Amino acid sequence: MDKKHSHVHSGKSTQNIINAEEVLKNAGIKSGDVFLDAGCGDGYISIEASKMVGKQGRVYAVDVYPESIETVKTKIRDNDFNNMEAVLADITENIPLNDDSVDHVMMANVLHGFVAENEVEPVMDNINRIIKSGGIFSVVEFRKIENNPGPPFDVKLSSEQVIEILAQYGFDTINTQKIGTFHYIVNGLRKP
Ligand SMILES: C[S@@+](CC[C@H](N)C(=O)[O-])C[C@H]1O[C@@H](n2cnc3c(N)ncnc32)[C@H](O)[C@@H]1O
Repeated sequence: MDKKHSHVHSGKSTQNIINAEEVLKNAGIKSGDVFLDAGCGDGYISIEASKMVGKQGRVYAVDVYPESIETVKTKIRDNDFNNMEAVLADITENIPLNDDSVDHVMMANVLHGFVAENEVEPVMDNINRIIKSGGIFSVVEFRKIENNPGPPFDVKLSSEQVIEILAQYGFDTINTQKIGTFHYIVNGLRKP
């Protein structure tokens, strides 16, 4: 485990407290989308996304943690998810996808770590390079409530903080929704 990313590398999956289908429906994922799950962990959101984008779509599951990518690769192989690819990459450095090639980027339970590590700028620059104009950036985070699951209270982000970060990097917030008991989603539209 990389010490630099010690916080975000907690390695926990939120699979048992969040429903991937609910997340993706609230994100507005569409059939045919090219979808990036940035910081995919064990890939449970990517796998649901691969079903929802269908044969005409494509899903890239990206993570910096080699073990997570191996897990996702095994799931892809075992289940013949032909429209999905697992990619090992540090998104603070590079996202190995073409410019203006992605319709929808999702970051679930990841952004707070980049805020804590002061790495938001390089990550957002990389996202802005690969996302299409008019594309959607969906951020899922734990609600900022004391004693709830998730990161420490000081590290949790409020939806207002997420909206502010999105605005700073060229995204208009279209909506925010509560997800399950502990989460919320903010959906931002990449301004042309
Ligand atoms: C709390 S987990 C969330 C996993 C998954 N999205 C979920 O909701 O269950 C954070 C994930 O972000 C990944 N991550 C942290 N820093 C990263 C970076 N610089 N580049 C790519 N992935 C990163 C971690 O390896 C980890 O899998």
